Amino acid sequence: MKSYGKHALWAQFCLFLPMTAQAAELQLTSPSGIFSVYQADELLSHPQARDIVVANDGGYGQDMTYRAVPLVSLIGDANSVDDQTGLEVIALDGFVANIPVPLIIREGDEHAQAWLAIEPEDAPWPNLPGKDVSAGPFSVVWVNAAASHIRSEQWPYQVSKIGYAEFPPARWPQLALADGAPDNAKQGQTIFIDQCFACHRMNGAGITELGPNLNLPMNPVDYFKPEALVMLIRDPASVRHWPDMQMHGFTTDQLSDAEIRDVIAYLQAMAGRKAE
Ligand code: HEC
Repeated sequence: MKSYGKHALWAQFCLFLPMTAQAAELQLTSPSGIFSVYQADELLSHPQARDIVVANDGGYGQDMTYRAVPLVSLIGDANSVDDQTGLEVIALDGFVANIPVPLIIREGDEHAQAWLAIEPEDAPWPNLPGKDVSAGPFSVVWVNAAASHIRSEQWPYQVSKIGYAEFPPARWPQLALADGAPDNAKQGQTIFIDQCFACHRMNGAGITELGPNLNLPMNPVDYFKPEALVMLIRDPASVRHWPDMQMHGFTTDQLSDAEIRDVIAYLQAMAGRKAE
């Protein structure tokens, strides 16, 4: 591992070096701003590395065995952050998961445990279903996921950077609903942040680069018939289909019918609150 102090100028330069396809390197920033770079080999031989079995892995949709390190042992003093701060996990394709810190630090069998799985160079993982790449070089996976209701988009794979950031509603005021917004829109906002915000910016908020902004310039409720929008969220290919489409559907376990209605209530509410 290489660590750089918060103010090391040349570490800043490293951040902007282009990522080459074969660079199995993980960039980590601690709560106090210490920036470290790990190579896959170092993580595979980390003192806390273990072989773990992950039931119903979020990326592969099946049980998987990994060499992995407990995430909490890599991310500095996670207990030192305030309750408005979350873990920001960025993937090579521009997917950005915001994971609440309590999910990562709670211990014991009654909670899920987050692990960083590392793809060994000499034993590559299989390709992801429907893709021509694996989940490597690094993937955030959960043991006992059901115990903490880990959501389908809280399994970021092809991870390249992990750091801390203010949780989205605190970081971007333009995500907020009007005072007195209906409860289903409020629930929809929470679901949106867990299940959609990793790939979609909203009203100018967010840093993901995968999918379109879902409020600017237009909100999907402005141009989709309501029933078509429900179908698109459940199963995008049932509305339109092309080889490079990237949005997957959601099973009813991943997003119930009521949750889809809540997300649409949030979109509806945001359509009237477009940022300048
Ligand atoms: C894994 C990334 C990903 C996730 C998660 C995701 N989307 Fe998408 N979505 C995309 C991408 C990329 C597109 C552009 C079309 C494509 O490539 O499939 C898209 C397209 C859309 C569209 C069509 C927009 C248009 O005008 O064509 C809507 C509506 C939409 N997503 C809503 C949602 C909602 C609501 C959620 C959360 C419940 C969500 N998406 C979750 C990646 C994602």
